[in-house]
Amino acid sequence: MENRSLVTIAEHSKEKIMYLLEMAKLFEEHPNRKILDGKVVATLFFEPSTRTRLSFETAANRLGARVIGFTDPKVTSSSKGETLKDTIMMVSNYADVIVMRHYLEGAARYASEVAPVPILNAGDGANQHPSQTMLDLYSIYKTQGTLENLNIYLVGDLKYGRTVHSLLMAMRHFNPTFHFIAPEELKMPEEYKAYCRAQGIRYEEHTEFNENTIAEADILYMTRVQRERFTDLMEYERVKDVYILKNSMLEKTRPNLRILHPLPRVNEIAYDVDSNEKAYYFQQAHNGLFARQALICDSLGITIEDVRNDKTIIQ
Ligand code: CP
Repeated sequence: MENRSLVTIAEHSKEKIMYLLEMAKLFEEHPNRKILDGKVVATLFFEPSTRTRLSFETAANRLGARVIGFTDPKVTSSSKGETLKDTIMMVSNYADVIVMRHYLEGAARYASEVAPVPILNAGDGANQHPSQTMLDLYSIYKTQGTLENLNIYLVGDLKYGRTVHSLLMAMRHFNPTFHFIAPEELKMPEEYKAYCRAQGIRYEEHTEFNENTIAEADILYMTRVQRERFTDLMEYERVKDVYILKNSMLEKTRPNLRILHPLPRVNEIAYDVDSNEKAYYFQQAHNGLFARQALICDSLGITIEDVRNDKTIIQ
């Protein structure tokens, strides 16, 4: 049987990505339907989340599915020593698809290999966050009108930031030029730079972050320094506020520039940026609803033609 899990965005072709974005657009036009009537979606969050969990759950609810799950593994039998495999096997008895966030890199891959139902990776450690990437791509496409030939600046915690790792893999289809802006301690890991070289993706690395560095950006993708991934908190204190985007830095930027951030934000975007028309991070999070509706449907074998012909729309 075809495995309809989403573990890493690297598994998706350009055609599949464009197909899912087209499906997301149909859901943005009509987000309220009963196309998932009778289905059960499980959300298993072994790590904290606001947007990913709530947007997946909203996506399912607005399509008529029921949602089960947990937000804290301490209240589940994994706190009594139940293995991830057993937990996944049990939940597969109850749900048609499992959305899972886990603190261990590779947990989603493992779950997809043991589960009889699809697994949607909602973030595994510092590794991948493919559903975030789908909403990032949708946001880039909506704001730029294309995914091709863009200058994309990734700023902040490029070492632990799973969203930037997934995004650069997805962009391999679209001839981007990346600029990696990070302090030495949080540089883009060598494995991802090697991936860029192997895929012919251009990139430059910078440690400076100012109005001149970002003047040619189409997309400025800010990230939070992830305190929870540091083993040395002194190191976290040294780097946590090293880059702060301020409104005054945007004066010389391109008119089409949009600022993205997977959120949550801590200090890396000053609040005076929020009212700038180039700030797009709250709309970006909203786009997550439609991107995740497409991902849930795709995991359940619902095609774009099914969505186009759907007669269950609630006006
Ligand atoms: N972007 C993102 O993953 O946010 P949450 O941690 O709130 O889900």
